[in-house]
Amino acid sequence: MEIKVLKSYKELSSTVANIVKRQIKKHPLSKLVLPTGSTPLGMYKELVSRELDWSHAITFNLDVYLMNVDHPESYQSYMKKNLFEKTNIYPDHCHFPFRPTSAFEDKIAGSMGIDLCILGIGSNGHIAFNEPGSSFLSRTRVVNLDEQTIEDNSRFFGSVEDTPKQAITMGLGTIMESKKIVLMANGDHKLNILNVAMNGEVTEDVPASVLQNHDNVKVFYCD
Ligand code: F6R
Repeated sequence: MEIKVLKSYKELSSTVANIVKRQIKKHPLSKLVLPTGSTPLGMYKELVSRELDWSHAITFNLDVYLMNVDHPESYQSYMKKNLFEKTNIYPDHCHFPFRPTSAFEDKIAGSMGIDLCILGIGSNGHIAFNEPGSSFLSRTRVVNLDEQTIEDNSRFFGSVEDTPKQAITMGLGTIMESKKIVLMANGDHKLNILNVAMNGEVTEDVPASVLQNHDNVKVFYCD
């Protein structure tokens, strides 16, 4: 699997934003899966500046923490702040994983499938919150976050104690049913795990390695 190395974070952000833009322009009724975290922030900024018509698009977020959704660091708040409030997307078209998780899966299935899924990668190789050891067949479910993930994400919450320990995540099986997948990563600290995931053994110990089994994945990296 080829990793395309880009020169800067700006280029990473605009390259992925252009893929999303082309998707929505060509198919206004597109169903998109969207990530949160630090990596896609620039992409959302680029997308907002492109003034696209989002009125027919439908989005599903990859994951949410099990926490108060009104908290400023909830993924619901993140998406409102960085994309939804700045575009003409209908709030009713923006879906986050919820319980019962089978009903969220039904919602995706009812939308006739995901056209484009954008992913980040965790320093332990997770995609969405599918931590090492997750089944490649997994579906949307409640998960306990890895110690490494809690530590990594404590930068948003000020301390490990205040960082959520559980989440609802789309499963690897759910993600793999997307027609097209784009994985974005930035920073030296992601290079090693990215290489292991894309060129190493396909194993549930490295959840992102499942992407080697998909025939339409693009991977973009900048340091
Ligand atoms: C978040 C998500 C996670 C992040 C990953 C990287 O919705 O799906 O898998 O993509 O933890 O996060 P950052 O970009 O903050 O390094």
